[in-house]
Amino acid sequence: MIRLAGRGLAPFRFLLALSLGLGLLACTNKSGGGASAEPQSAEAIQAALVKRGRSVYQTQCIACHNSNPHKPGSLGPDVYGSSKELLEARILNGTYPPGYTPKRETHVMAPLPHLKNEIDAIHAYLNSN
Ligand code: HEC
Repeated sequence: MIRLAGRGLAPFRFLLALSLGLGLLACTNKSGGGASAEPQSAEAIQAALVKRGRSVYQTQCIACHNSNPHKPGSLGPDVYGSSKELLEARILNGTYPPGYTPKRETHVMAPLPHLKNEIDAIHAYLNSN
């Protein structure tokens, strides 16, 4: 009888553990102010943007620019510190912001409009550190 009762209770123990677990989760969610599921601090968002920008730059730009954006590349100049206006004009339209003096007189770089959603990330990467 005792062994039977023990077995009979096993599912309930499982349920008890489960509800305790869920209860704990609910508590940590409340006390964490939403920060427990995914870190969404300003630093974390910025770090993610820089990481994304680095990968875009290292795949789309280094055929001509240096993989170290502080240095000139095989064709393109150094681009570290580029403003968002400059990146938008250069990458989306192949132009320069009004009044900007280009580092090169050439017109080798074709616009890369498919990167229109990556400007923020590229900008974050080129202005990091
Ligand atoms: C096909 C080669 C090539 C590729 C690919 C390329 N660039 Fe360029 N880029 C150049 C050259 C060359 C210049 C100098 C002006 C010119 O000839 O167009 C330039 C100029 C620039 C400038 C202006 C610099 C200044 O201050 O005058 C920026 C900013 C820039 N590139 C960013 C990028 C970024 C970011 C990427 C990748 C998304 C990229 N380029 C991809 C060749 C390239």
